Amino acid sequence: MPASPTATPKHIKDVNTRYHDAAAAEYDAKWGIDFGDIGQDQVRAKLVKALGGPAEQPFGEALEIGSGTGYFSLNLVQLGLIGKLTATDISPGMLSQLAATAEALGLDDVATVVTDAETLPFEDESFDLVLGHAVLHHIPDLDRAFAEFKRVLRPGGRVVFAGEPSRYGDRLAALPKRTGMLLAPAWRRLTGARARAVAEVDQSHDHSLEGEVDVHAFAPADLRRLLERAGFEERRVGGEELLANAWGWGLRTVESSAEPDTVPLRWRRFAFRSYIALQKVDTALLEPRLPAELFYNLLVSARKPA
Ligand SMILES: C[S@@+](CC[C@H](N)C(=O)[O-])C[C@H]1O[C@@H](n2cnc3c(N)ncnc32)[C@H](O)[C@@H]1O
Repeated sequence: MPASPTATPKHIKDVNTRYHDAAAAEYDAKWGIDFGDIGQDQVRAKLVKALGGPAEQPFGEALEIGSGTGYFSLNLVQLGLIGKLTATDISPGMLSQLAATAEALGLDDVATVVTDAETLPFEDESFDLVLGHAVLHHIPDLDRAFAEFKRVLRPGGRVVFAGEPSRYGDRLAALPKRTGMLLAPAWRRLTGARARAVAEVDQSHDHSLEGEVDVHAFAPADLRRLLERAGFEERRVGGEELLANAWGWGLRTVESSAEPDTVPLRWRRFAFRSYIALQKVDTALLEPRLPAELFYNLLVSARKPA
């Protein structure tokens, strides 16, 4: 549900900062974020899909917008597809988690800077790549943000964004969420997980905040026009994840009804593997055949004129 049309940009950014600061410590566990082979395979596939093929060469200096805990960029650094990373976010809490993970992974060339995407504290033409995952839908003034992305890119540099909610996919996610809520009591009986004592309070709180942090859900044409207005060329917009996402929302909904430490490991393994298997089905069978707007997530890439 997008933020109220009367919410000011300042309010949206304040809520985003508070919400993500509060979510930072549990973020990787909540979203199953992985910094090993699985996470790296996922982000490599996203980059290939967004660019329409493998990168011609690794990106030297990259700037990530709304890095969160580093899912997209730290995995790309580990793959050697990014040389030097500047990770930015409006939430200091998220960047602290990212810095700790970068250190634990032994990644030296990673700097963190707290900043809003609409006003970047960097020199003109200082990066080869501006990237982000699941962040554009939080930014109030996207024309302003894309003007900044273009300003800080070197001529010929790329923008790549993935994981942006599509308008249709956003509506589609409501179905597995509702089904998950209906099935949650039976699922808890089956797995032996214990009902969460504060589930209802937590869920309604999360829900209302989610309504305030999410500003947009996109049609592919919205993103194409945004890139065009900002003066980018070689514009591409694609879609990914349909079955995997529907399944993932169902899983998250039933799991969030239980005390986390009572969800059996066997179930967690099954849930993770089944999600990854469905991602593969989406990639191999559905993404090449169906129009971008049908998918839950949109990916974009474009080039700054040389
Ligand atoms: C859904 S999270 C995604 C985090 C990470 N990219 C990932 O995929 O796991 C969105 C991130 O964008 C950040 N964010 C929200 N509004 C922002 C803004 N105006 N400028 C920069 N970052 C912002 C949030 O703090 C949060 O860390």
